[in-house]
Amino acid sequence: MVDFVNIIRPDDWHLHFRDGVMLETVVPYTAKVFGRAIVMPNLVPPVVDAVMMRSYRDRILAAAEGTSFKPLMVLYLTDDTSVQDVVDAKEAGATAFKLYPAGATTNSASGVTDISKVADVLEKMQELEIRLCVHGEVTRPEVDIFDREKLFIDEVLSSIRKQFPDLKIVMEHVTTSEGVDFVLETENMGATITIQHLMINRNHMLVGGIQPHYYCLPVPKRNIHQQRLREVATSGSEKFFLGTDSAPHLRGDKESACGCAGVFNAPRAIEMYTQVFDEMDALPNLKAFASINGPKFYGLPVNDEYITIDRVEPYDNPPEIPLRNNSASIVPFSPPGGICWKIREWCKKRGNR
Ligand code: NCD
Ligand code: ZN
Repeated sequence: MVDFVNIIRPDDWHLHFRDGVMLETVVPYTAKVFGRAIVMPNLVPPVVDAVMMRSYRDRILAAAEGTSFKPLMVLYLTDDTSVQDVVDAKEAGATAFKLYPAGATTNSASGVTDISKVADVLEKMQELEIRLCVHGEVTRPEVDIFDREKLFIDEVLSSIRKQFPDLKIVMEHVTTSEGVDFVLETENMGATITIQHLMINRNHMLVGGIQPHYYCLPVPKRNIHQQRLREVATSGSEKFFLGTDSAPHLRGDKESACGCAGVFNAPRAIEMYTQVFDEMDALPNLKAFASINGPKFYGLPVNDEYITIDRVEPYDNPPEIPLRNNSASIVPFSPPGGICWKIREWCKKRGNR
């Protein structure tokens, strides 16, 4: 039995840092392990232009001080995004735009109401080689929440794909077999997969009482979808890469009569992915998923450091993590049965082994 793994320092291709004291609290968990992260723009108000993006990047870098972490910035696509916004974003170093269908998830009220409204913007992104990150769920109220991803593919994504065949699109946090199939059979498409969608299904969230800290969007699906995600993530296919979708909320906002969606999984994230690859007997494929496929899709070099992760006795994340100013707390994600891998060394330069 393998009792440690060495991999190139990983990146996180989808997460939420928020702002203010929450940002200061959560950034270090990511920055000490991951080389880079795609930072989602769904702040209130959302990050919609290059000026907001630059200032948000500076706040993240301040919170990551003392590390070599590099945030990769994403702008929030709205009905009002202009072609000039895309040009300015490219110049300011933006990596991608994020398409939220209006109302799909936390802080998505400013999202796009109709794809035809952003056609010229998508055209420009294709030309300038800026990636499009997609929250793939329709939002019509009559559509069952468990079917929203499949319908998004049929009704929206297929037509974006046909209209802009060279635009590189990431289907964020894919959760269904249908989503996996679409990504596998479509050119210029990749997908991120979260820890929670690999480790839990809807039973974990709903059986024996509602577990608010397992509730996120897209909502965890039935176990056959979870199984498909576990197979494809660990298969070595270069279309799938690590994106935690770590999305911290205050404990009180999750444990509420109307609890909000989002799982804070940044603490011990790489350890939990390692655990899934181990359970699937696929540890040799971890480095592709965590450290190589993402940079390749985004046209970036891989990191030049490595990390070592050891097999250990099962443990849980702490039951809660206080904000830096102690005003409230966040509950980190722990899988059923605990975590049984732990980082030994952080970010050693390759060659120093
Ligand atoms: C995210 C959040 O809280 O910002 N929530 C979630 O459940 N994943 C938004 C998102 O990525 O959908
Ligand atoms: Zn997200």
